[in-house]
Amino acid sequence: MDDPLRHHGDSEAREAALDFAVNVYPGPRPDWLDTALRASLDEVGVYPSAEKAQRAVAAHHRRPFDNVLVTAGAAEAFTLIARLRPWSRPVVVHPQFTEPHAALEQAGHRVRSVVLPPPFALNPELIPDDADLVIIGNPTNPTGALHPAEVIRSLLKPGRVVVVDEAFMDCDPDESESLAGLRVAGLVVIRSLTKHWGIPGIRAGYLVGDAMVVAGLALNQAPWSVGTTAAAAVLACTSPEAVTEGRRRAEEIRDWREHLEKGLADLGVHHLPSTASFVLAQVGDGVHARLRTAGIAVRRADTFPGLDDSWVRIAVRPEDVTDQLLTALAGL
Ligand SMILES: Cc1ncc(COP(=O)(O)O)c(C=O)c1O
Repeated sequence: MDDPLRHHGDSEAREAALDFAVNVYPGPRPDWLDTALRASLDEVGVYPSAEKAQRAVAAHHRRPFDNVLVTAGAAEAFTLIARLRPWSRPVVVHPQFTEPHAALEQAGHRVRSVVLPPPFALNPELIPDDADLVIIGNPTNPTGALHPAEVIRSLLKPGRVVVVDEAFMDCDPDESESLAGLRVAGLVVIRSLTKHWGIPGIRAGYLVGDAMVVAGLALNQAPWSVGTTAAAAVLACTSPEAVTEGRRRAEEIRDWREHLEKGLADLGVHHLPSTASFVLAQVGDGVHARLRTAGIAVRRADTFPGLDDSWVRIAVRPEDVTDQLLTALAGL
């Protein structure tokens, strides 16, 4: 395997009969989204502008326009943050999605990992006092842990930027612990639109936060990095009809997840409570490979700091698909 920090689940799903490795919503795209994406092709004769999308995100989170930066997926935001300042003590809270860590290293920073012990609840006392950047996921990939907004908020202090990766917050119907609406100095919240809306091939995401920090991040963005189709996706996915459908999807994901969790419990497989579109399960050594031989891809978890190969991350799927995985697990 190449750099474990750069490993992504999509490489495990290739040619698998059943994909439980990638956390993209498995249903069809809504008609209104397809219509918006197709219509965007009529506008590709001019250079793209994300202004309308930026305005829509600002309205969606009830924030001023200058609190928003539309990005080429959440992934671009990590690179922008890594390059924002000569961070003296950047901290990444693990286990979590490793791209922010990799982006910081790529930008030449020495990253300090804070590895939470199971069950991976955030303990603010573990964050070094002198950290000037803290990056945390909420709910966290791959643990599914949803940290209380108040606890994350307690990490804020003068001279520190706290970045919350809320790429999976739209899996929680109430988004109860989201900090996207909170206007305080030093806070940046990153959102992805690619998973909930099933469009990872369109690099659509955004960040909201402290206007001063957002302005600095915008300066580092490559010109026109958000293409016309991505901007159209952001606009469509923050519309009122998207809010309704987004909630319906979150409720569906919750029901599917409960089915998976119950099935794992019935098999006696230790797993963690999740608020996201995946469940972290301790299936035991070698199970990942045996499932793969059976044509079933689950996401290996040993590439995440703080986890080993007894764990796998299982994407939430409709009940009948989940049952195929549970049957395979029972037969191993
Ligand atoms: C936790 C987390 N944040 C961000 C991303 C990147 O999202 P995007 O597709 O919007 O770049 C991913 C992708 O897997 C992820 O798992």
